[in-house]
Amino acid sequence: MPEIHWDSKLYNEQHRFVSDYGADVLQWLDAKAGENILDVGCGTGDLADKIQESGATVSGVDASADMIALAKQNYPTIHFEQKDASALDYRKAFDAVFSNATFHWIENQRGLLTGIYKALKHGGRLVAEFGGKGNVKSITDAIDQAAHQLGLEHRVISNFWFFPSIAHYANLLEASGFETEQIWLFDRPTKLVGDDGMLHWINQFAQHAFVNLNEEEAKAVTDLAVSILKPTHFENGEWIADYKRLRIKAIKK
Ligand code: BEZ
Repeated sequence: MPEIHWDSKLYNEQHRFVSDYGADVLQWLDAKAGENILDVGCGTGDLADKIQESGATVSGVDASADMIALAKQNYPTIHFEQKDASALDYRKAFDAVFSNATFHWIENQRGLLTGIYKALKHGGRLVAEFGGKGNVKSITDAIDQAAHQLGLEHRVISNFWFFPSIAHYANLLEASGFETEQIWLFDRPTKLVGDDGMLHWINQFAQHAFVNLNEEEAKAVTDLAVSILKPTHFENGEWIADYKRLRIKAIKK
């Protein structure tokens, strides 16, 4: 996984929709009072709090110290800890593991799924949603096109996320010992906040693409990518990102 510095303030102001959309996948989790649940990639803690409302006991982990600090401040009654999701060290501790908008950041998927498998009690469930095959392709294509037009294509890293197909992820789950109960891939066009929504999105999430560029070059590629996207992705004063979600429910048998 690329080294990402999460700007938790920008995230809170511009990208809270990540948690808002996550409320939908909570229905698949169907948390019950008395259960022990782990939220992997808990971010600012909003969904952990929603899970706790069901009467379950929740723990949240995230790789970002900034996010964990904000989560603790937002929800002091929940246990949050900074941890690498691909090296979890729990043993048969949870009835369910939940995750929203996190798995696509993780390179070591076998480490992730093995750690979750060991963390679950027998019969426990993994419910997760993240970017699937084709996710944000218009945005990565626009960054590539902008880099090409500016002669910077050899120094821009595009597609550093993991956006698997249904078949690929079902295989990974099975190889890690899970039985897949449900797996869906669906379009979820996602509104970005404000006139500068696409600019903020690229600045927050796609910075790894520009690690080999100086600040001026990165800004030139970003600005050009935004103007390439504008005719097709900015409508009635709103930016729309072409999100595709992979949603899974898998059981430790
Ligand atoms: C997503 O939730 O699909 C996503 C968010 C940030 C970067 C890439 C994908």
